[in-house]
Amino acid sequence: MEKIAIYPGSFDPITNGHLDIVERGLSIFDKIIVAILLNPSKKSFFSVEERMEMLQTSMKKFANVEFDVFDGLLVDYAHRRKAHAILRGMRAVSDFEYEFQMALMNRRLRREIQTVFLMTGLRWIFTSSSIIKEAAQFGGDINDMVPPIVNKKLKIKYSKKTV
Ligand code: PNS
Repeated sequence: MEKIAIYPGSFDPITNGHLDIVERGLSIFDKIIVAILLNPSKKSFFSVEERMEMLQTSMKKFANVEFDVFDGLLVDYAHRRKAHAILRGMRAVSDFEYEFQMALMNRRLRREIQTVFLMTGLRWIFTSSSIIKEAAQFGGDINDMVPPIVNKKLKIKYSKKTV
């Protein structure tokens, strides 16, 4: 049976740390569905369409990756997509409590879906979408932390904001 994992997130925007997780996840799963959470109550920097474009462009090189958006409970979405697992990256200690709580709640809601954590690659341990946006906002060079399309879009967006 095909082993499918959902890789959920806000991806606002995608970073090299996310790419690393998907690349390594593909050595475990037959297919990964990268799914953006549609969350009307959380204001995002990039629109869903922009985030989707950045995901698709950055992951063009990967076979067996699909892209989607979802709302509602992640485990229900995983069930609908016939996924066996939720894939998450874990950085340092700071991620642990939130991830642990979410994994246990998801397990409580649907026992058959497993959460699989991959430790973030050492190169990306300090990066996050928010800290990258903050650096980019003030003109910091984040070129080697994000895919080229993200670097370009961040530059465009922040240059428009300061005009
Ligand atoms: O990239 P993020 O913002 O850390 O991703 C968080 C995400 C999308 C994985 C999480 O918020 C989520 O799964 N939301 C959907 C609602 C849900 O199922 N929550 C967990 C159990 S209550």
